Order: sequence, then C-alpha cells, then structure tokens
Amino acid sequence: MTMKSAKSPGHSLGDVTISELRVDARDTPRGIDSKAPEFSWQLNSSRTGVLQTGWQVQVRREGSTDVLWDSGENDGEHPFGHSYSGSLLRSSTTYCWRVRIRDEGASWSEWSSEGIFETGILDASEWAGEWVTAQDDTAGALYLRGSASLPEKIDRARLYVSSLGWHRLFVNGVDHTGPALVPRFTPFGKEIEYQMYDVTESLRPGENIVAIAVGDGRYRGRLGFFDRRNTFGHTLAAMAQLVVQSEDRSFTFVSDASWAGGSGRITETDPKHGERADLRVAEEDWSSASNTPHRLSPVRVLPAPPAQLIAEQVERVTDVARFRPRVWRSPQGAQLVDLGQNIAGIVRLRVAGPAGRTVRMTFSEVLDPDGELDVEWILTNPKKPWQQRDEVVLDGSEQWWQPWFTIHGFRYVQIDGLDGDLSADDVEGIALSTDVETAGSFAASDERLGQLWQNVLWSTRSNFVDTATDCPTRERSGWTGDIQVFAPTATGVVDSQAFLRRYLRSVSIEQRPNGNIPPWIPSERTGDASFITHLVSEVLGNSVGWGDVAVLTPWDLYRYYGDTATLERQYRSMQLWVRRLARAARRRGASRWLARRFGKHEQYILDSGFHWGEWLRPGEGFALLDGTLHGAALATAYFERSSRTLSAVARVLGRDHDRIRYLELADRVRAAWRAAFVHDGGGRIGEDKQDDYVRALAFGLLTEDERTRAADRLEVLIRDADTHLATGFLSTPLLLSALRENGRADLAMQLLLQTTTPSWLGQVERGATTIWETWDGGYEEAGRARASHNHYAFGTVAGWLREELAGIAPASPGYRHIHIEPLITEHLDWVEASVRTPYGEVRSRWEGSQDSGRIDVVIPAGTTAEIVTPDGSVILAGSGRLAVTWPASSTG
Ligand code: BGC
Repeated sequence: MTMKSAKSPGHSLGDVTISELRVDARDTPRGIDSKAPEFSWQLNSSRTGVLQTGWQVQVRREGSTDVLWDSGENDGEHPFGHSYSGSLLRSSTTYCWRVRIRDEGASWSEWSSEGIFETGILDASEWAGEWVTAQDDTAGALYLRGSASLPEKIDRARLYVSSLGWHRLFVNGVDHTGPALVPRFTPFGKEIEYQMYDVTESLRPGENIVAIAVGDGRYRGRLGFFDRRNTFGHTLAAMAQLVVQSEDRSFTFVSDASWAGGSGRITETDPKHGERADLRVAEEDWSSASNTPHRLSPVRVLPAPPAQLIAEQVERVTDVARFRPRVWRSPQGAQLVDLGQNIAGIVRLRVAGPAGRTVRMTFSEVLDPDGELDVEWILTNPKKPWQQRDEVVLDGSEQWWQPWFTIHGFRYVQIDGLDGDLSADDVEGIALSTDVETAGSFAASDERLGQLWQNVLWSTRSNFVDTATDCPTRERSGWTGDIQVFAPTATGVVDSQAFLRRYLRSVSIEQRPNGNIPPWIPSERTGDASFITHLVSEVLGNSVGWGDVAVLTPWDLYRYYGDTATLERQYRSMQLWVRRLARAARRRGASRWLARRFGKHEQYILDSGFHWGEWLRPGEGFALLDGTLHGAALATAYFERSSRTLSAVARVLGRDHDRIRYLELADRVRAAWRAAFVHDGGGRIGEDKQDDYVRALAFGLLTEDERTRAADRLEVLIRDADTHLATGFLSTPLLLSALRENGRADLAMQLLLQTTTPSWLGQVERGATTIWETWDGGYEEAGRARASHNHYAFGTVAGWLREELAGIAPASPGYRHIHIEPLITEHLDWVEASVRTPYGEVRSRWEGSQDSGRIDVVIPAGTTAEIVTPDGSVILAGSGRLAVTWPASSTG
C-alpha cells in the first residue's frame, strides 16, 4: 500500500478537517528518541456536535510512499495518546504521518495533511563523536572548533551536539543555538541531553568550520541555595557528530583529537552570577575563519561521561519578548533602566568607549526606597557580592553586546562605565523562556484581574526556562512543592504538557530507593554534591506537599491532558512515594511524643520527618519548623490525598489489585485523620488555622454536617482576619473553590478583590508585574523589598479565575467533557477566558447578574459540555458556538 494513493473508503466527512498534528505533545519535533512516538490532532468543523468515534493513523518514511505503519481502523474518542507501534524506527530519519477519523455518524473523514517528526540518535552504540576540551581547563567559556570537508552537493545535514555546560553551535559562523541555554538542566550524573541541529543550509562544498562555545551552565556554574560551583564537574567539554547525506552516500564527521580548543572572548560565564567578556578578543577567527587562531591548541579527548545521552523532549528556550525600556538617572546619578516588566532574561546593550574600559550591567527586580537600584533585597548572605551582574571590556569600537551563557531575574538595570547618558535606543530587554504557546487568556470588567492574570503569565514564563524553577534570581531550583501546587494552573497559562513530563521524568530518576524525593529537581545529588547538600536533601526530601509532586502532578497531567502515558511511566515513582509516607506514618514523630495515643489509628498518623508545612502563611515569614512541629494534621491529609490519588491512577491503568489496596489505605488514613484532628463536629480542625479547614473541605475529608461547621469556622477565621486570607503555599490554590463550593462565593470574591495585605490585588495595585514570593513583598515587614518578586506559587489563583470565575473546567480527563459554570457575581459586569485543551480552544464569556445575563461559549469539536446557569439550569451541549441566557434559559 502506498500513502499517496490511499483513498478513504466509504462516504467521507467533508465538513470535518483535522489539524494541529502533534507528536509527543509537540509540533513537528525533530531529533526525538522515543521508540513509540505518540500522535495527537484536533478536529475542526463548522457543523455542531461533532464527535470522534474512531481513528486511523498511517506513517511513512520521508522519500518513500510505502506505508510503514498503519494503525488500522480503531475505535476511540480521544484525538491523543495513540502511540506508534510499527517496526523499529531508524535514527536520523524523517517520518510523515497522517490521520483520519470516524465521526458519530460512522463516516470517515478525509485524510489530514501530513505531520512530520524526525528521529535523533536512537541507539547509544551510534555515537562516534569524542568528548573534547582544551588542554588546560578554561576559567571562562571553552572555545572549540573542527572542520569537515564536504563534496559538491549536500542534500541533508544534521549535527548532533552534547556538552558539559551550556553550548552555542556555529557552522561557518552561523549561530544555530541562539539563546537556547542547552543542554537543559537534567540530572546530569544520569542523563544529559544532546541537541539536533539542521545545518543543511549553513554548509558548503569544501572546507566547513564547526565551532562550539561552552559556558558553565548548570553543569559547572553556581547552583541553588548554596550557590556552589562545579557540582557536576570542573571541566567543560563538548561532543559533536555531523551526518551529511549527499545523493546516495552518507558521511559522518565527529569531534576528535583533530579539533582545537582554548579560551576566548568570554572570560566568565556563570548562569547566576553573570558573564564577563573582553571584546578585544576577536570571535570570527574562531567561528568562521579557515585558519585556527593562535589562542587555540589541539584538544584533549576525555572519556565519555557515564550519563546516558537523551534527546530533547521540550521546545528550546527562546526570546519570547523584547522590551525598549525607559532610561533615567537615579537621585545619586546612576544610569538606570526600567523594562516596565519583571522578567527572566538578558539585556542587549549598545556599547562604546575607549579600548580597555569596562561597562557593567547590574540587574535587580526592585529599586530601594531612595530610588536607587536595590542589590540587597534577596541576598541570603549579605557578605556575598551581588550576583546578577554582566561586564564587558570594550575594544574601542561601537557595537551591540549581549551575553551568551547567563540569565537574570530583573526589571531594572544599572549601567556603569558608559560616557554620557544612555538613550532608550541603546538598550533592549530580552525575555527568555521555553518556546511554548500561551494556552489561555483571561479578562474581566475589573482590569486589575486581567493584570493579575498577566502577572501569573510572566511568572510562568520566567520560571519555565531550562527547567521549572522557584524564581529566576535566588535559587533558580526546581522546587517540587512549587510546581506541585502550580501545575494545574500552568496547564491553562502555557502549553505545559511536554515541559511537565520532562520534569517528572527527572523526578523519577532522582527519587531515592526509599521513596524520598529530593526537594528540588534536578537535585545536585547525581553530581559531586557536598555532604551537607546530601544531608539537606535527604531530610527535606520527606516533606509532604513537596514530595507529593510524584503522585499529584502526573494526575494533573491526566486531568488536563488526558495523559495516561505519564501515569504509566510515573507509576512506580508514585508507589515508592506512598510507601514512604506509609512507613513514615508508622514511626511516631517528635511532634507527638507527648501527644494523645490513637490506638489502631496511630500507625496512619503522619507525624514524623521534616515538613515545610503550609509554608509562608502571611505574617509567619519563613517559619522553617512549623510544618515539622505542628504539621501532623497537614501531613496526614496529604498522606490521604496521595494514597487516594494513587488508587484512582491504578483504576485508570486497570490495576485492580492496587486500586483496592490504595483505596483501603486511603480510607484508613482518612479515619485516623478524622479521629485525631476533627473536633466539635468539624467546628475545630487541626491547628485551627484557615488552611486546616480549606484542606479538609477541598480533600473531601468531612461528612456533610462537618462540612457545614468547618465552612462556618473558616468564614469566622477569615472575618477575624478582617476579610483576609491566612493561607500559605499549599492551601491558597484550594481556598477560593472551597469557599464557593460551600456556599460562600461572595466571600471568595471579597478575598479575590481585597487590596490590603495579604492579597493578590494589593500586589497589583503596588505595580507588581509578576507574582511575589511573599504576600507583601517585604515592603510592610522590612520597609523595603524582601524575598523574590517572581515566584509562581501564589499565582495559582489564575487557575481559579479560569475554572470558576470564567467557569471552564475539565469534567472528564483532557476536557473530553467540559464543565462550564461561571461564577456570576455582582462585583463584576463581565468575565471572559479561553483555554487551549487537547481538543482545541474552549471559550467562555459571561455578562450580567444573578437575575439575568448570558454566557457565550465555544466548545471544540470532539467534546461535549454542560453549562450551568445561576438559576440552576444545566444545558448539555455539543461542539460549536452557543449562547445561554437566564432567567428561563434559552439557547441560541
Ligand atoms: C523556595 C521556595 C521553596 C521553599 C521550600 C524557598 O527557598 O524559593 O519556593 O518551595 O524554599 O520551602
């Protein structure tokens, strides 16, 4: 059979077209190494009520019309999660695929136009490139170059590069990497990415120069809380393998002893502490000139690192936005720059001045109360020099300069060393983030809520870089708790599936045999971590709410993307974590040595080990030991949550024995939790803090009667706090829904619209352009900024804006069935939002009041929806556009 002539049998569905063909949750991925790539698509139709009931996929190799794999006609309503299962894929090969679907009337659509994916290196034995470095370790960037002599005609050329440190690849002077910050941060001791570059257009017959610069990156640069260097090694290195196809022949060129290496223009390349460059050192002689510059000498060949080389699974980091800033002089005369937006990124600067002069850029998120750049707001150790700083030594000419191997969290920049005043045309802010599309939008009649949404988007962009991070300034670590709470929100902010999958893969790789999850992923433990790092990681790796990322985040991928493959892949890791919780619960912990005994329940109460607890409750600051000393109610609730979720996962995966086992465990933990922490029929729970009630309500740990009393008590606590929330990292995401579900929608709105601290709009009104780590940003406590101003953790409210205020939530996994129940409130005239789901875009817009109004929705093909109006009507809808009004719901 050939794909070109294949005709769809039977009557075809002219009004359904298929688009958004994706592989492994990415558009046209190239250089992948999955053995069974996963296909997905979306339906489009002007007809309403379109559903998919079957599908068929065909794959061919580019250049051949033969069908390599035909899935055959399958039943199935999901346009995702269908994996290739044909003969073994070949390395470095481009494949084309297409799909057709059967609709609810049993007719088949036309075939889609073709989607494409390309494999990278699929078998470790195919690597022939040698790992090379300079004779002497360079203090700054490592510069490498080699050459390849090519025949007349080149049809196709792929260059595979991996490196210890972030690299930039140049072929005959053409930059193929840009600001990508690759290889991205993985547990380097176990896995290191390689990048695939299509270099066909940059090559020419005859001699070609392949040049690679390597900066410290996450491999050798300063990392995390301890700011320690050389965690994974001291020596920067790279490996390259060029595969060229020309007519019927194929040539391979690899990095080897013939390459030259040494130092160059970049003299310091720390990812956190910034870059230093000396423009007096030429660059072209290294990247494109035919003669090797004198500063390079024959390379040293290193043994290959023990880690496995893996392909990329996520889009690369790119410049997602550029800013022309405001420039002015501070009261003390410093040259300052304001991007108007807090970002993670770099600055491109026009420099001029005498040769040998140093120009310095210092980056910060905030100004001090006197209007000077604040370089003290975030330091953990005031004796340490300010870390976010780039310096460039001029060569006497005027030119644009930007760093290659560093990234900063900032809105303001101070520039020293230039003559005269800077103009806005001399400087450009460049925001760097993973190159994924936004996955949603939100706006409301109160513009401050739209700004709040934008702030969450920017904190997401700033912390979805080479891995998920807590903040782009201080630690820049993949704290598990932060992504655990934020993942559901993230799915509606940017296209997050591939990014979160990548993170979870690192979670399972890093998980300890005892189930413990290092508190930040990648941890430094697969490298040469200090004893203290190991110890800290071991102790902190017990914490609930953080380690639960292993169970709760895969489940979120299932809820929002219908991603069963991730459940399957992470299943073992989930089990290890729940077993760890169960073991920890059997130990009686320090917090309860003197406490009451609970007989048969005792073994299910989790009161041992370290826990961050609710973390950053307003006014409590960084209360380090609160979770450990007072967190048994919280920890046990998470133990219940993860056990119950694991049982649900087992159900989805058809593991019936496990489903029952974990359900029984969850029920026992629930009973124990209730015996130990519910008093006065729900009127007093745990430590009697707001989050105790929120958690109990949100996790479904109470009976009907207890719910009423708990909700009453929660309201009292909120009112006692003068209508303010008092929740931290873990319960803030659950707070507003818990109120709405328990008859207190108006109170939820009052909290949402509150402007005195702690509140979301208080930050907005202060001019925040990202979400802050602490509720007051330090201003009230310290009189000036304190702690990070770019943490997405408290941005989980954006999930509530989308799911409840605009009312777009998945009613079944992946939004196959959509629940639309906006909160119509007198505080607002209208709200609108959109979410990009696996089926396509859902939109919802409401206007009006409880008494009368309308909701306009767009439901994507392949899905169904239920729309609930304030008068309680439930309208069932198929795909298409729809308007629902009340009173007396009518559809239009
Ligand atoms: C990070 C957090 C993280 C926390 C652990 C902080 O330093 O910035 O976001 O979750 O430590 O509690």
